Amino acid sequence: MLLGVNIDHIATLRNARGGFEPDPIKAADICEANGGTSITTHLREDRRHIKDEDVYTLVKTIKSKLNLEMAMADDIQKIALEIKPYSICIVPEKRQEVTTEGGLDVAGQLEKVSDFIKPLLDAGIIVSLFIDPDEEQVKASAKTGAQFIEMHTGAYAEAFGSDKEEIEFLKLKNSAKLAQELGLRVNAGHGLNYENVYRMHEIPGLYELNIGHSIISRAVFTGLPEAVRKMADLIK
Ligand code: PXP
Repeated sequence: MLLGVNIDHIATLRNARGGFEPDPIKAADICEANGGTSITTHLREDRRHIKDEDVYTLVKTIKSKLNLEMAMADDIQKIALEIKPYSICIVPEKRQEVTTEGGLDVAGQLEKVSDFIKPLLDAGIIVSLFIDPDEEQVKASAKTGAQFIEMHTGAYAEAFGSDKEEIEFLKLKNSAKLAQELGLRVNAGHGLNYENVYRMHEIPGLYELNIGHSIISRAVFTGLPEAVRKMADLIK
């Protein structure tokens, strides 16, 4: 199973001060050097974290694969067709949400999704649809021409350790099986952390996990001792 590292939160931190630090491009480099097999980033319509210039630079500097998350927005599709990332993951997007809430409703807008992804597929970009682990959504996704689905693991992550865990986990397992029977490849992500990730191995054929928040959160604490020591030394 491969690891796509989502670097959006590096950009969130950078934007908090409006300067250049921490640099998401440098972060991508570190992720690739340490086992990240692709770099994922979400160019949101509100440009809350990653900005246009970041993706234009990333696509040139990245050594692994750039997976660009995007909503079905024409202006972002235009950028995608210009930079041609290795893959694109279509996500739903609401302006006020804290993070991507829920999967894309493919079943309810099959024609719209199929039409939107066609130019991307024609340009040779791999397309993935971020959907809830739901039979209807999986079946609809298989009709769009997309090669991948990414299963939203948020409900599983929230239920982890509770009596609902098994129900949510089985939704993932069954959806992955159905998707693969229908010829789709399967990724997963959202809310995965150092405790709940291990069960992903119980899902046969999972290709890649996209993980961001838990990695960046952990990095703060694993990096903090060195950062403080260095500053303390300088001040001395
Ligand atoms: N996959 C998709 C499609 C996402 O939108 C996100 C969140 O931006 C992730 C994976 C990563 O989620 P998390 O930051 O919770 O690991």
